[in-house]
Amino acid sequence: MPNNSQNNLDKFGLLSKNTWNQLAKEDAEYYILSDKEKKGGKWDKASFLARGKEQWLGFKNLLSHYGLAQAVARDKTALDLGCGVGRMAFAMSSDFKEVFGVDAAETMIEKAKEYQKALGTANVEFSVNNGSDLRSFVDNSLDFVFSYIVLQHCPSSWQVLKYTNEFSRVLKKGGVCLFQTRVSPTLGWFLKFNIQKKIRRMKYCGKQNNYVKEAVMGNWVYYPRLYRTLKKNFSAFYLVFSPPEIYESDFWKLNSEFDRWKRSFVICIK
Ligand SMILES: C[S@@+](CC[C@H](N)C(=O)[O-])C[C@H]1O[C@@H](n2cnc3c(N)ncnc32)[C@H](O)[C@@H]1O
Repeated sequence: MPNNSQNNLDKFGLLSKNTWNQLAKEDAEYYILSDKEKKGGKWDKASFLARGKEQWLGFKNLLSHYGLAQAVARDKTALDLGCGVGRMAFAMSSDFKEVFGVDAAETMIEKAKEYQKALGTANVEFSVNNGSDLRSFVDNSLDFVFSYIVLQHCPSSWQVLKYTNEFSRVLKKGGVCLFQTRVSPTLGWFLKFNIQKKIRRMKYCGKQNNYVKEAVMGNWVYYPRLYRTLKKNFSAFYLVFSPPEIYESDFWKLNSEFDRWKRSFVICIK
């Protein structure tokens, strides 16, 4: 499959890295949580982190709802892929022995370390990856893998499938993974997203707009492909659409069916 070759994955990973390095330099917190009122460095750090805590509580409730509360425990290790400045990793740190925050953008990780210094959180370890795999983590080494508002931004859905394979590889048997991604249930939706992308590009043609960058607009994974990858790698999995545990208290308004498909979650057990 030519699109899935290592060269292409490297190329897409680099695109993610370069784009998010630039966004992190410009206004990291705003591009992590894009509340228009907070543009231009207006996020108050305490409320930015508090939102992470609030969302993490929602994720724990979601895991409990699926009978997986035991996935989160003080004697377990966790990985947060696409950790940004560590918003979710810090929230997770009080529930795990150790949290590994990984991000493709060096600038995000530098900022995460500044936050860490200010917070004095000892059990979070940050590192940079290549934007397409988790090669610095050995097989069967982690208890929990998490990723939120990251995979949707990958320029190619092949990156999402590669990361899904990687999540399984690094998890111990019985380990749990919870990630958000955009799922396209049919080819029709897949087409719809690509048309939406084209319209957006035309609208902003010639203008500076970070939201039309490939590594921000991202991808929709075609469900049958994701299903095959999950089936190959995990003993059980659930696909959950915009769970109320996360979105009832969120500032993202899920007004349309399209918006809801965008906020899909996968919970899987190795
Ligand atoms: C919207 S932010 C979310 C940050 C964090 N998950 C949170 O909720 O606070 C997206 C993050 O994903 C990272 N990212 C984007 N593409 C990535 C990729 N291909 N591999 C690893 N990290 C990526 C970006 O650098 C950025 O920090």
